Amino acid sequence: MASSALAHMSGPNSQLLRVTETGRAPLSFFLDGVEVGALTGDTVLTAILTQQRHVHHSEFSGEPRAGFCLIGACQDCWVRCEDGARIRACSTLVEQGMRVVTNAVSSIKGGAR
Ligand code: FES
Repeated sequence: MASSALAHMSGPNSQLLRVTETGRAPLSFFLDGVEVGALTGDTVLTAILTQQRHVHHSEFSGEPRAGFCLIGACQDCWVRCEDGARIRACSTLVEQGMRVVTNAVSSIKGGAR
């Protein structure tokens, strides 16, 4: 699907509301296996949270987490890519075709790559 046709704004299930810089070039990535839209220059955290309310589930409580500091300090936004790479969502830019997994507790366990 053309990335420009995918929603990159915010919806009723979004944690973040996109209010500025809406003219950046659209791209698409895969969020838990579903192709969704984002904008060039979005962090993975922004791209995810304009689609849903969490970036992963706590490995301790299983509760949904959406990051905390948004500046790379708290370690609360680690997610996995489908290839097993572990990325910090608030300090990694989303890329065209990136495949991110947020829907499993096991997605954040294990060492960083
Ligand atoms: S939100 Fe704190 S490190 Fe990413």
